[in-house]
Amino acid sequence: MKFFIDTANLDQIREAQDMGILDGVTTNPSLMAKEGITGEANIRKHYLDICKIVDGDVSAEVISTDYEGMVREGDLLADLHENIVVKIPMTKDGVKALRYFSDKGIKTNCTLIFSPGQALLAAKAGATYMSPFVGRLDDISSDGIELINQIRLIYDNYGYQTQILAASVRHTMHIIQCAEIGADVITAPLSAIAGLLKHPLTDSGLAQFLADHAKSQAKG
Ligand code: G3P
Repeated sequence: MKFFIDTANLDQIREAQDMGILDGVTTNPSLMAKEGITGEANIRKHYLDICKIVDGDVSAEVISTDYEGMVREGDLLADLHENIVVKIPMTKDGVKALRYFSDKGIKTNCTLIFSPGQALLAAKAGATYMSPFVGRLDDISSDGIELINQIRLIYDNYGYQTQILAASVRHTMHIIQCAEIGADVITAPLSAIAGLLKHPLTDSGLAQFLADHAKSQAKG
């Protein structure tokens, strides 16, 4: 399973990259705004800065909602760097744009997926990745993880190559459940990824090993 980090924060991207486990980055307009990145030139520079840190796919989202705008923006984003993946919302124009980029050999990530039907359309349009939002479904008392299950089943039925990129992943159990189902990718905040490290028996076991070593050294 590939690990992407879901942030536009360069320090956090560097930290995940330094761990040696990072396969890519996803961003969205809200995450860019959170970092205070405004204006087209700054936004483009920020994507390039991310691409310099991580040798993997970097999702950059279009702002346009009409087909022509998505194509114009997406072409510019794709020209920035070979690792840029054009992120496109699941709308009628978005599906058409996915097909356009797929036919051109440009990687895409179809975002804001909340149903199996939307997942099916993204695969039919040739999306490289599609992003079901697990946490946001949980937020409204729906089962986000169950959606990943349904999409895995549908894609496997037909051998669709579109990768399931589980998004809006909020905590470590989401990551484990996605791995059990066989999601191709998870994108998560650094806190959720770092949470996988934690186990009290690891901490107490290490403390014991170090104490025993220190004791034996003192004797010897
Ligand atoms: O990858 C999508 C993600 O950024 C949305 O996460 O936590 O805002 O639902 P969240």
